[in-house]
Amino acid sequence: MKVAVLAGGRSSEHDVSLNSAAAVREGVLAAGHEVIDVLIERGGAWSHDGDMLSLTPGGGLLGVNVVFPVLHGPFGEDGTLQGLLELLDVPYVGAGVLASSLCMDKVVFKEVLAAADVPQVPYAGVREPRWRAEPELVLRELAVLGTPVFVKPARLGSSVGIAKVSSEAELGPALDTAFAHDSLVIVEGFSPGMEVECAVLGIGSEPDASVPGEIVLTGGADWYDYEAKYTDGGMELVVPARLPDHVLEDVRRLAVDTFVRVGCAGLARVDFFVEDGERVLVNELNTLPGFTKTSVYPKLWEQTGVPFPALCDRLIALAIERFELERSVAF
Ligand SMILES: Nc1ncnc2c1ncn2[C@@H]1O[C@H](COP(=O)(O)OP(=O)(O)O)[C@@H](O)[C@H]1O
Ligand SMILES: [Mg+2]
Repeated sequence: MKVAVLAGGRSSEHDVSLNSAAAVREGVLAAGHEVIDVLIERGGAWSHDGDMLSLTPGGGLLGVNVVFPVLHGPFGEDGTLQGLLELLDVPYVGAGVLASSLCMDKVVFKEVLAAADVPQVPYAGVREPRWRAEPELVLRELAVLGTPVFVKPARLGSSVGIAKVSSEAELGPALDTAFAHDSLVIVEGFSPGMEVECAVLGIGSEPDASVPGEIVLTGGADWYDYEAKYTDGGMELVVPARLPDHVLEDVRRLAVDTFVRVGCAGLARVDFFVEDGERVLVNELNTLPGFTKTSVYPKLWEQTGVPFPALCDRLIALAIERFELERSVAF
């Protein structure tokens, strides 16, 4: 197969993407495929071997069989890129347009899960115009969440723009910080639970779930912030998570259930809080999780018996299988 690996992108996770893409590149090569590198610059331009690309709807991408977008955050993981790839008419790894964009939006994602009574932390979405118009009323409404709360841009990742707020006085400034990244902000009640992550792989109604892993903060961070995520020694992944077998099974079942419910395809990492060692709450679902060799997603598969190159190979095969299925219906 000729595989285009898309790297970089316009979001604040550009550098993370470059690291992930370098690892994917190696994995795809090790699986015996050919790699075509495509760089997406911070400004949004696409290039290959130093030449700017121009794209033609229906014209594919550089003659490749499949595209592996290794992009995180806005304009990569949020459905916009997936829409472009649909119009180019080329198979691509990962979730389609709707699942990508709905999982990127922490408010919409939670609403969809809430409709099915999936356990989650209490939360409220706040739009910027409303915050500007009636800040006191907004603060009063948010008071029901108690303290601490987490304040987050609704459609970002890597903990960028997130604040843990322990007093009412800090809430307004935290909202302003989050609004600098997104006009929609989510405020969540605090969960003291263990952070557990589960990798999902597949398409259709019965994808596979990995052994769940536990995020242990080892660098002294209070929560899993940007530094803890990307600094050596910031975190340790303990696999399997130190939970009873039946709780690990609950995590895996809920990971698969969430993946299927939102219509994901290919891959996703589903993140949880497990309270009191048994109550499993869904935190979020990442449709294009970090993909360096030391990232959680590939590590969980490695511990489940799927080495890195085999994982890349499987994702490529799934992308083609899904493309053929979707193009086989009348539209
Ligand atoms: N409601 C919450 N209760 C406790 N910790 C939280 C909560 N929300 C977020 N966190 C902490 O912040 C981190 C980042 O939040 P998350 O929603 O996963 O955003 P991102 O998409 O940036 O990863 C989590 O891994 C966790 O450590
Ligand atoms: Mg997260």
